[in-house]
Amino acid sequence: MIFAALCLFAPSLPTIIPAPLSYNAEEGSVRLDAKTIIVAVGDAKPVAERLREELRPATGWALPIHAKTGKHAISLIFDTTNASYGPEGYRLETTDDGVNIIANTQAGLFYGVQTLRQMLPVQAFDHTVQHDVEWNVPRVKMFDKPRFPWRGMHLDVSRHFEPMPFIERFIDWLAVHKMNVFHWHLVDDGGWRIEIKKYPKLTDVGAWRVEQPVKWDYSNLHFPGKNSGKKMYGGFYTQDEIRKIVKYAQDRYITIVPEIEMPGHSTELVASYPELGCSPSAEVKAKYIAGTGNDQPSMVCAGKPAVREFYKNVLTEVMGLFPSKFIHIGGDECPKDLWAQCPDCQARKAAKGLKTEDELQSDFIRDMDSFLVSKGRRLIGWDEILEGGLADNAAVMSWRGISGGIAAAQAGKDVVMSPTSHCYFDFSYASTSTEHVYSYEPIPTELSEAQGRHVLGAQANIWTEWIATPQEVERMMFPRAAALAEAVWTEPTKKDWSDFSRRLVTHYQRLDRLGINYYVEAPVAKSDLVLVGSHEQVAFENPPVSGATIRYTMDGSAPTASSSAYTSPIPVTKPAVIKAAIFRPGGAMSEVTTISAVSIQPDTTPKKPGVSWRVIEGNFKKCPEPSAFATAAAKIVDGIGVSDHAGKDHFAVMVEGFIRIPTDGEFTFYLGSDDGSKMWIDGNLVIDNDGPHGYAEKRLKMRLPAGDYPFRVVMYEGDGAESLKLWVEGAAMPKSQVPPSMLWSK
Ligand code: ACM
Ligand code: ZN
Repeated sequence: MIFAALCLFAPSLPTIIPAPLSYNAEEGSVRLDAKTIIVAVGDAKPVAERLREELRPATGWALPIHAKTGKHAISLIFDTTNASYGPEGYRLETTDDGVNIIANTQAGLFYGVQTLRQMLPVQAFDHTVQHDVEWNVPRVKMFDKPRFPWRGMHLDVSRHFEPMPFIERFIDWLAVHKMNVFHWHLVDDGGWRIEIKKYPKLTDVGAWRVEQPVKWDYSNLHFPGKNSGKKMYGGFYTQDEIRKIVKYAQDRYITIVPEIEMPGHSTELVASYPELGCSPSAEVKAKYIAGTGNDQPSMVCAGKPAVREFYKNVLTEVMGLFPSKFIHIGGDECPKDLWAQCPDCQARKAAKGLKTEDELQSDFIRDMDSFLVSKGRRLIGWDEILEGGLADNAAVMSWRGISGGIAAAQAGKDVVMSPTSHCYFDFSYASTSTEHVYSYEPIPTELSEAQGRHVLGAQANIWTEWIATPQEVERMMFPRAAALAEAVWTEPTKKDWSDFSRRLVTHYQRLDRLGINYYVEAPVAKSDLVLVGSHEQVAFENPPVSGATIRYTMDGSAPTASSSAYTSPIPVTKPAVIKAAIFRPGGAMSEVTTISAVSIQPDTTPKKPGVSWRVIEGNFKKCPEPSAFATAAAKIVDGIGVSDHAGKDHFAVMVEGFIRIPTDGEFTFYLGSDDGSKMWIDGNLVIDNDGPHGYAEKRLKMRLPAGDYPFRVVMYEGDGAESLKLWVEGAAMPKSQVPPSMLWSK
């Protein structure tokens, strides 16, 4: 009884994400109910309406908004005499009469409202009326404001199109996390997604590509027009829809920064208006597109005046739709080799005394910069815009690491940080974990305090080459977006990963109610390879948090929400493939963990050093069968990799031999590759890391008796970067690539 009473009066720890600047918990709580009123006058009224609408679905209340102070009220109060709030800060205080939220801007009041929502029971995030909930707000005095003015999330809707209702949900989630910039990547090679009245072919042609057999195949982009009769993939937003989304975001104090990517990444644009492409000789053109599968070179021309005219007309319509001060013009990854062979580009270079193609790009970007400035806007672009000299008024988005951001800030230019090291949410959780995102510090130590003030903030990017559906976007976004929200809102002295992890447990319940398909860490098996008859059992290391369940199958099929629930270690009496996943109460499911139960014996015949390495050429989309290598010549190598195929595309490699387990004990192997790879031990598929992807590792933790075991690795490379690595880690062995002493053949 005493214990219960103590608990009742212990100040409750806040579970607010992002963590507020200062929080003083007091005893007791304030009850809200259907008789609560909202008090707001003047400019506070729109925020009061948002508060009413955000409380309505879960509570069923339609709280009245009163102009006069009253009892039992949530009061939204402007205090314009106090500059300490800044443009987005607020104070939240409970009183005997209710809750006061005080700020000197609407945005500040709105963030107070978001905090209030998170102080209510998690059911506040439900979209249907929740009965039997006591809507208590713990008593508190809180002062809060963000560290950075740019707290952003990017979404690429070109490679894969996202429908309007999803964009609204996406904006809702940003608002919950007090993020305030939505960087909307509207155009790219994969499709043009914004209606431009002056150029209808951008969406009649450029918004529709022939559906590809894989999610994304850059070398097979075809835009024959929406009604070509072929199976098409695409979509776009009409200007009316864009206006609706802009308003929707404004109502949530979110600025949409539209990106009109130029001059690279423009396959869809040149397909729509070929006359805007470079005009090299027929011979150069043929050479340029040979082997790409594309109909024409995808480079817009940096020399033709018509191209600049085109972009200014597009930007004029874009500015008419988006009130954002910043307009993003892309500028990244522009291959300039065709410019070097285009008479129009070369004529421009000569006329302007430009020495390099990088300078030609800068000349192009400067043109856009002065155009945007003449309309009262500012240009922002990816860090490549630094290369030929930065336009006067431009701001830089640093993505290839942080050096572009450092250089720009040192030159006195504004910067938004979005480095691949922490902010690329298209990267797997294995490479960019939630904890790693959380640790992100946007101001590089290289900057002085004054230079550091040019860092406006940070954002994460969601590129959708391999992310085709809203559910997949959600999974890549959360919980990492919650971690980033805290990295850009909360002062470093208030950041604490273990406390964040604790709050995340509650926050998952909010995400469940918001219907977000967030990433759930997969079950981690104590051993991924179990020897039948060894008394080893299938067991898991990570009991799932709050209400989640591990479910599994033993027939190789994918587990579902109705598969057997794991309650204790599973004995195995015969070879089997066990697949397990964690299921959250809201429906979110983890990746599948596969455990192999096998019967294998070490091979005792004599061995020679090295393993066999074979390669075959071909544009593979997944690992070919081992039999495909039957006629390829083998060489003996002493390590596992792509060997002499580094830097090449379109091939597959097979490495075979014996792996020598040096001592009895536990070893973990990690098979890493770009693109896919697989590993077999004694004919059993034990690591499946197949499919098109950037560098990603999958692990195999096992305990085998010392000895030689036959193994095989297959990997394939589509386009872009390539790698193949097999790592090993043991009790007396730090993680390192498998050494020659473990690689043998007969
Ligand atoms: C980028 O990731 N190409 C900006
Ligand atoms: Zn050109």
